[in-house]
Amino acid sequence: MQKILTTENLSKNYGILKALDKLSLNVTKGDVFGILGPNGSGKTTTLGILLGVTNATSGSYSWFEKGKNDHLRKKIGALLDKPNFYPHLNGFQNLALIADIKDLKSPKIHEKIEISGVSKFVNRKFGTYSTGMKQRLALAATLLGEPEVLVLDEPTNGLDPEGIADVRELILKIANQGITVIMSSHLLDEVQKVCTHVAVLKSGKKLYEGQVQSLLAGSDGIEIASDNMAQLEKVLSGFIGIEQIEKKQGTFKVRLKDGFKASELSSFLITNGIDITHFSHQKGSLEQEFLHLLSENRA
Ligand SMILES: Nc1ncnc2c1ncn2[C@@H]1O[C@H](COP(=O)(O)OP(=O)(O)OP(=O)(O)O)[C@@H](O)[C@H]1O
Ligand SMILES: [Mg+2]
Repeated sequence: MQKILTTENLSKNYGILKALDKLSLNVTKGDVFGILGPNGSGKTTTLGILLGVTNATSGSYSWFEKGKNDHLRKKIGALLDKPNFYPHLNGFQNLALIADIKDLKSPKIHEKIEISGVSKFVNRKFGTYSTGMKQRLALAATLLGEPEVLVLDEPTNGLDPEGIADVRELILKIANQGITVIMSSHLLDEVQKVCTHVAVLKSGKKLYEGQVQSLLAGSDGIEIASDNMAQLEKVLSGFIGIEQIEKKQGTFKVRLKDGFKASELSSFLITNGIDITHFSHQKGSLEQEFLHLLSENRA
């Protein structure tokens, strides 16, 4: 699989503030890679560095295993800020102008209009667009240069539910055409719906990186109780698949390591003579897992 982006120990300091702290990432061709984190976790800083807008304090990154020269940047479409177009020109004229400024030889403006679903309003003045329409036109604009990668900073921010759904659908459509997407989000369900891979950031540090699927798979929580909690605790701690045990109001909350099943734990307990009075297996949502990651002190 072709490597699209690698970063190694990328850091950014603002005075004593570590906005980004030794971030290493790997993005492979075809990924829809989500950078997920709360406000101030370093998402925009990361994307800014990758696009050459912000200088890293230390660390390195490389696009397409070749580095970071201007020629490589041409293969990257980006949307970092609010879309900025001329309000008195219509959508088509704005796209044509961008194609001109970018000196594109034969821009497929109509094709991009079609893909982005802006054809209905492309002849209207940009100044009359809703936020969702503006965002769609902005995405059309990022596609003009036939990018191999799209870098999008919180692409659904500020949109209403319909606009959010539209833009997510559009991102998936773009990804289906083989374009790699790197996008930030503070919304868990967005990453769950749109992304194949995710890096979770907190205070500039990466807490997790991997497939969204695996993050979900590893997120099962099991609640167990027995009349003899001391014995239960002892036996529980002897099970090799235990990732974490927490005592909570008369029950143990257990998390299993990847690859271990709740059924294996229950048979282990029964085999070891535990009289189980309560055993509930909760399939964790990405949200629970995300909150769990953020509350942990893995720094
Ligand atoms: N130019 C700057 N000068 C000083 N501090 C900055 C600057 N830009 C960002 N920061 C700080 O760096 C940290 C990371 O900011 P960043 O904008 O990357 O976060 P973010 O994850 O994009 O947040 P949000 O979800 O609010 O967009 C924050 O603490 C922020 O205050
Ligand atoms: Mg941001």
